[in-house]
Amino acid sequence: MEMNHERLIDGQPKDEEKPLDRALRPTSFEEFPGQTKVKEKLKVFVEAARLRQEPLDHTLLCGPPGLGKTTLAHIIAHCMGVDIRATSGPALHRKGDLAAILTSLRPNTVFFIDEIHRLNRDVEEYLYSAMEDYHLDIISGEGLGARTMRFKLAPFTLIGATTRAGLLKAPFRDRFGILERLSFYDRAALKEILFRSAGLLQVKLDEAGADEIARRSRGTPRVANRLLKRVHDYALVKGDGVIHGKLASFALDQLEVDQLGLDHMDRRILYLIEHKFSGGPVGIDTMAAALSEEPDTLEEVYEPFLIQEGLLQKTPRGRTITEISKKHLQMLAQQGIAFV
Ligand SMILES: Nc1ncnc2c1ncn2[C@@H]1O[C@H](COP(=O)(O)OP(=O)(O)OP(=O)(O)O)[C@@H](O)[C@H]1O
Ligand SMILES: [Mg+2]
Repeated sequence: MEMNHERLIDGQPKDEEKPLDRALRPTSFEEFPGQTKVKEKLKVFVEAARLRQEPLDHTLLCGPPGLGKTTLAHIIAHCMGVDIRATSGPALHRKGDLAAILTSLRPNTVFFIDEIHRLNRDVEEYLYSAMEDYHLDIISGEGLGARTMRFKLAPFTLIGATTRAGLLKAPFRDRFGILERLSFYDRAALKEILFRSAGLLQVKLDEAGADEIARRSRGTPRVANRLLKRVHDYALVKGDGVIHGKLASFALDQLEVDQLGLDHMDRRILYLIEHKFSGGPVGIDTMAAALSEEPDTLEEVYEPFLIQEGLLQKTPRGRTITEISKKHLQMLAQQGIAFV
């Protein structure tokens, strides 16, 4: 069995994709379609902070991979007219690393920590005083000779991004003045994103083509951009260079992204619950073992979309399949699409 099936519609960035990510990353709220409510609120908070000439309150952005958390952090810094310093939870191993960064920030800098739920506990607790009143206690020397020095920091804004806000402890979460949850994008917003990307990449895309790609992009901009590139390959090789509806539909079928935007792994999950566990409920660990996946990955990457689309239900006793997914599996079986 193939274990790490390469996932075309995975929300997570692939390394070779980072230049693409960067090239397509909007730099202002105006160029960032969708997430209307979140965006409107952030705009007000940013404007108010500017008027007060203070840093923006610490901000926590949560939501599944590829929805624009990193992009929003950059947009916020840009609108505030301040520097951004970016790192990630797993990269900040030691308190010393954190102290080195915080003591070097210019006033009002945005300090962005990606995957903030993966900070280790020491570092996290060390952040508390920095967040609260911009100071750090630095201990020098050891044993009886140890002395604590209080170090004053320049005011800054911490922006944390996480796919799992539930994993942050309450004392940490409570230190963020702004907490925003990103949701999956609707089709209209994805189409806007696709047209913008097509313009930047000089790809010819018509209305029906955009519609088809948007429909199968799992509500995720990163997926939409990735599919746009792959479908464009088909347009060049198998078509006349233009992405129209029929071509898009053909290409996405070839890429095994189905009508609901599900890929091989999504279908395996639904098929497993339906056929091996009589529709569920089945626990996440059992599922993970049967699929040779990490439980965390299932929860962070695969489940949110399946749940939002009403294909999967989370109950206290485990995951169950729904009528919608049963119908979808039947339809796929009729089309002869394989599950294993
Ligand atoms: N609203 C949007 N409009 C246009 N492009 C977007 C939007 N949201 C995200 N993108 C694009 O999707 C890609 C992924 O966005 P981003 O890296 O900000 O997601 P993320 O939420 O930080 O993901 P991860 O959890 O994997 O870090 C980027 O290339 C970005 O340009
Ligand atoms: Mg990111």
